[in-house]
Amino acid sequence: AGAALWGGRFGSGPAAALAALSKSTHFDWKLAQYDLRGSKAHAKVLHAAGLLSDDELARMHDALDRLSADVASGAFAAAEDDEDVHTALERGLIERAGDELGGKLRAGRSRNDQIATLIRLFIRDSARIVGDQVLNLVGVLLERAREVHGAAMPGRTHLQHAQPVLLSHHLLAHAWPLLRDVERLRDLDARAAVSPYGSGALAGSSLGLDPQAVAADLGFEDSVWNSIDGTASRDLTAEFSFVLTMVGIDLSRLAEEVILWNTKEFSFLTLDDSFSTGSSIMPQKKNPDIAELARGKAGRILGDHTGLLATLKALPLAYNRDLQEDKEPVFDQVDSLGLVLPAFTGMMATLVFHTERMEQLAPQGFSLATDIADHLVRRGVPFRVAHEISGACVKTAEEQDKELWDLTDAEFASISEHLDPSVRAVLSVEGSIGSRDAKGGTAPARVAEQEDALDAAVEGL
Ligand code: ARG
Repeated sequence: AGAALWGGRFGSGPAAALAALSKSTHFDWKLAQYDLRGSKAHAKVLHAAGLLSDDELARMHDALDRLSADVASGAFAAAEDDEDVHTALERGLIERAGDELGGKLRAGRSRNDQIATLIRLFIRDSARIVGDQVLNLVGVLLERAREVHGAAMPGRTHLQHAQPVLLSHHLLAHAWPLLRDVERLRDLDARAAVSPYGSGALAGSSLGLDPQAVAADLGFEDSVWNSIDGTASRDLTAEFSFVLTMVGIDLSRLAEEVILWNTKEFSFLTLDDSFSTGSSIMPQKKNPDIAELARGKAGRILGDHTGLLATLKALPLAYNRDLQEDKEPVFDQVDSLGLVLPAFTGMMATLVFHTERMEQLAPQGFSLATDIADHLVRRGVPFRVAHEISGACVKTAEEQDKELWDLTDAEFASISEHLDPSVRAVLSVEGSIGSRDAKGGTAPARVAEQEDALDAAVEGL
């Protein structure tokens, strides 16, 4: 096993307690292949600067390729006394390329610019993977919306019946924010396409090395303008962490509704057996564990995000070892969403909506009261007055424990001279939903357009 990368000026090795605290291979090993790609690119600029011969570059690349294969197969792993992924991989390189050649690769770079580059590579790859998983869910929500097109449900505000809406409109209201999360991931991917390699420890690249060549080699669009920014900033990590948090929170809002809708009291849906769980004691139970875990993991993912921001707060420039704490939170977020999203998407794809039950409840709780007021406005009654009149209808119906359409012609007439029997025409869910026909509204024709618009937005990503 190897030595630390910094032994020269020290009279003794690190105390065991320090080594245990300092060690990061149990999580930064995830970045090993990125580190090796960076090393190959770095070897090329060392060669271009005349610091490696043609033969040395070839042997260096060969050793790095073999090391990469051994990392992939598990034949090479971090040892107990390797401080971090960079230390372990230098040891692996030296084992394959020999002391002399292996010892040359570290020239002109620092673990500070290395790690800042690796986390960006990780963010960019992960943003694409998570984004694709979120898009799968958006696709399922769109499919389900199209499938139940025309079915009404009670729309709610304050969790109270408010106005009837289409179930498809409601489902799409969950899809749009998730689509924006994917757009956010694409946006930040473009912003993260700038390589810190060549920033060195903080002051920049020496030895005539070309940071832009390394950047291009690693698939970045450019290299950083400022080496201090390159090594010390973690705003891109924080931005990525925020978007993952937003995905978790958007999922948790849908999860909460699935849990609620799955109760006996709501009975709006039934989960597929393969996406629900049982109880060890109560034989009848069928639990919405996927939705609950999604809701629970959202808390943990948010914790990761706040922890990361707390680490960054008031941290002076440039690199500080605190920055090592940037990795585990985002790794945990990516891993958590990697588990939640496929299960959640499967749950949404397979659950059965009880649209008859929803339709039946849609007009209850006086959810058509606004339609009475709108009806009166169309007849020239000022909305202030119409609102009062409709409210009086609700009051009368509520006192008798009946619904608005159960009011008699005489009752309507006694509430207001404006309320003749023609008001009954607007007391239907279909009429109410159909009347909200401006762009963005729940009218069936608008929702059909909305479905196409969402589809196009997904295609256009
Ligand atoms: N493991 C460190 C990190 O994750 C990188 C190493 C920098 N160490 C140092 N002593 N400058 O940020």
